[in-house]
Amino acid sequence: MPKVGHPACMDSGAFQSVPGHIGPGRKVNVKLSIGDSTFPELSEISDYDLATIGMILNEGRGFDLSVYKEKCMKRRVAIRIRSTGCSNVADYCDFLRRSFRELELLQKTLTIHVSQFFRNPSMFEKLRNEIIPKLFASSPDKDSEPLRFWCLGCAGGEEPYSLAILLREYFSREIHKVRPTIMATDIDAETLKVAHLGEYNEDRLKELPDVLRERYFRQENRRFCLVPEIREMVTFRMADISDVEQYIPSSLVLCRNTLIYFTRTNQEKILNGIADILQPGGILVLGKSESLIGNSNRRFRPVCQLERIYQRV
Ligand SMILES: C[S@@+](CC[C@H](N)C(=O)[O-])C[C@H]1O[C@@H](n2cnc3c(N)ncnc32)[C@H](O)[C@@H]1O
Repeated sequence: MPKVGHPACMDSGAFQSVPGHIGPGRKVNVKLSIGDSTFPELSEISDYDLATIGMILNEGRGFDLSVYKEKCMKRRVAIRIRSTGCSNVADYCDFLRRSFRELELLQKTLTIHVSQFFRNPSMFEKLRNEIIPKLFASSPDKDSEPLRFWCLGCAGGEEPYSLAILLREYFSREIHKVRPTIMATDIDAETLKVAHLGEYNEDRLKELPDVLRERYFRQENRRFCLVPEIREMVTFRMADISDVEQYIPSSLVLCRNTLIYFTRTNQEKILNGIADILQPGGILVLGKSESLIGNSNRRFRPVCQLERIYQRV
C-alpha cells in the first residue's frame, strides 16, 4: 500500500487532512498538499530544518552532515522526504527519530554511490602507461618503500577492483616482486558489503574491455562475479574521509567523485590531509569535475590536468 503523501495516494484538489504513518498504529493528522508530487521544493527545506536533520543523523549514526555542501544535501533530503510520503519536514524529522531504517536510508541517499569499473578509461590508460611504471621503478623490490594504493570513497568496490585488474593484467611481474597493497575505504557499511561480495550488474561493467570481463568475471545468471584472485587483492575498511588523522601513508591515492560533495573548507582539509600522507613523489587522482583548492595548490604539481592527476611536491 502506498504511504500517505506518496504521489500514488494523491488526488486532485488542494489540502486534505489524512492519517500520518508515524509509528505502528499511530495516527497523526497532517496537512497534505494533494497533487504536489515535487514536495518539498528545495526552498522549503530551511537551514534550520537541515541542521535538525543533521543533529538526528549525528545522534543516531555519528554521521556529520555539516561537512557537505548544503544545497546538495537539501536536494538529497528532499528525495527521501518524497519517497517516505511525509507531508512536511517536521513530520519527516519525527519519523527519522523513530526509524533506524530511515536513518540508514537517508545516509545512503546523502552519500551517493554511483560508480563503474574503469570509470573514465583514459585516466586508467594514463595510470597504466605512465604513472604506475614510475611508481614500480621507484620501489623496485620488497625491501624498498612499500607501495600502497588507496581508494578513498570506494563505493561498491568498482574503482579499487579496476586498479587490481590493471595491476594483475599488466604488471604481474612487478606485483610478484613488490607486493603492493590496495586499500579501499568508504563511510557506508552497506556499500562496503557490496564491495566485499564483488558481484555486479552488467551496467557497472560498461567500460570494461570484453577480454578483461571474460578473464576476471564469472557470469551467474545476470550477475557478474569477480574471481577470487582479484577480490583478494583489495582490503576494504569503513572510514570517514573527514577523519584526516586516520589517513594511511600511501604512494597513490584515488579520491574521485567524492570530494565534490564536501564544502570548500572540508575539500581543502581533505586535500591537505592527503598531501600529508603521500610519500614524496606520490600521486593523487581526483574526479573529472574536481580540482585542487586553496593551499593544496602549493602541495601538488599537476602531472596531467586533463585526467586530474597530481604529484605531491
Ligand atoms: C560517487 S561515489 C565515488 C565512487 C568512486 N570513487 C568513483 O569515482 O567511481 C562517492 C562515495 O563517497 C563515499 N563517501 C561520502 N561521504 C564520505 C565520507 N565522509 N567518508 C568516506 N566516504 C564517503 C560515498 O559513500 C560513496 O560511496
